[in-house]
Amino acid sequence: MDLHVSLDSRSDLAGQIYRQIRAAILDGLLGPGQPLPSSRDLATRLALSRNTVSVAYDRLVAEGFVVGRAGVGTYVSDQISVPAPARPDEPGVPLRPRSEWEAQGEPADLSATEPEYDFRPGMPDVRLFPFATWRALVGRQLRLSAARLGAYADPAGHPGLRAAIARHVGVSRAVHATADDILVTSGTQQALDLISRVLLAPGDVVAMEDPGYRPAWRLFHSSGAQMVGVPVDSDGMVVDALPSRARLVYVSPSHQFPLGMSMSLSRRLGLLAWAERAGAVIVEDDYDSEFRYTGRPIESLQSLDRTGRVVYVGSVSKTMLPTLRLGFCAAPRSLFAALRKAKYVADWHTALPMQAALAEFIDRGLLARHIRRMRGVYLARRNQIEICLDRDFGEHLQVASSLAGLHLAAWLKSGSTEEALAVVRRAREVEVAITALSDFARCAPRPAGLVLGYGLITLDRIEEGLRLLHGCFVR
Ligand SMILES: Cc1ncc(COP(=O)(O)O)c(C=O)c1O
Repeated sequence: MDLHVSLDSRSDLAGQIYRQIRAAILDGLLGPGQPLPSSRDLATRLALSRNTVSVAYDRLVAEGFVVGRAGVGTYVSDQISVPAPARPDEPGVPLRPRSEWEAQGEPADLSATEPEYDFRPGMPDVRLFPFATWRALVGRQLRLSAARLGAYADPAGHPGLRAAIARHVGVSRAVHATADDILVTSGTQQALDLISRVLLAPGDVVAMEDPGYRPAWRLFHSSGAQMVGVPVDSDGMVVDALPSRARLVYVSPSHQFPLGMSMSLSRRLGLLAWAERAGAVIVEDDYDSEFRYTGRPIESLQSLDRTGRVVYVGSVSKTMLPTLRLGFCAAPRSLFAALRKAKYVADWHTALPMQAALAEFIDRGLLARHIRRMRGVYLARRNQIEICLDRDFGEHLQVASSLAGLHLAAWLKSGSTEEALAVVRRAREVEVAITALSDFARCAPRPAGLVLGYGLITLDRIEEGLRLLHGCFVR
């Protein structure tokens, strides 16, 4: 390792080296088993005789801080255990982030817990992901692309992936886009970030469904936007309730998050007409509509857009793995160049080997095959949940109608938001993870209900998980 030693005088050189290495070990900067540089290397770097360094090393060995392994090198002793280095206190007046950041919630670490009966929404079953195929594709790209991987690439994305995405969303979601309209991003979240950089100034009004997708709310809020929640009914977002000053409307028309209805055609046309009158942009988040179980697929809102008002946003977080952080947007021509520049200043481009592997995954029909397989798996889980809810929860829950996705929402038939939260708390005590609908709401009245995801819970655990959940309702 490149150990930093600084000599501040020419006296007691061996002592200075000894003290600095000893301090690095005691402060936990050099951990048990870590190698020290060879005495020859360190002597050359410090322009000293090798003997001076050896004197310091011999003293560290004699005191048990390090051990010499003949012919291999010198290592920090395994016997040394020191607490993890503490961050030093910062003297003086602390720096303050902008107020939007102080008000932000803590980032959720969804991998931190693994409840026994996991009904958390928003997560696909990664245990069924074809990891071996994906590894082979990424590995092949790393080998094939060795010559190209040294240079920064086009911020808009890998050309093959842009074309593959345009075809995929054209076929499956009737999105009107060519490869030139597709910008590859690090997930939906980055697409929203780029859109907000390009379109929003502090104080601009952003309208969102309420209840709605919290990460989107947080993102627009962090850019200084004035956030307005718009109510949702059985036809989706209530267009008549949109604030006239809204500059941007974020909406999930295929499968409203979290309630699950799809936006009716008349509402869709109404929203497009409203956006044209208001000079606003619509961000369509089409996050999980690939998993549609019954009925005719409703085409994307973007496919109805005739005036270039809609930015269509998607990702493979639900269809593949959320940790890939691969997403995209199909943007109107009027915005594309600015979005590409925003991507460039944000992170230059998304990891190229991953993009190339995804292009191949789509082109070889592997994404479509995985979606087909997972649709069957999720449908079976969803049917089982619906059977149990119908059979056992009639007095407690009214399931919201929904034809797609990876979760179901259900209203409490009687009872308040607090009671729904109490059910969630009691459920947690018996290892059942569910979410309260009110967690997704921003403005009063907060809905009293539950959200049950089926991305993670396996078929054989549903019955028992819901039996335990039933016991969490107070009769
Ligand atoms: C409404 C909604 N949009 C988008 C996403 C995916 O976001 P990303 O692509 O940033 O992982 C999710 C995931 O939970 C979601 O619920």
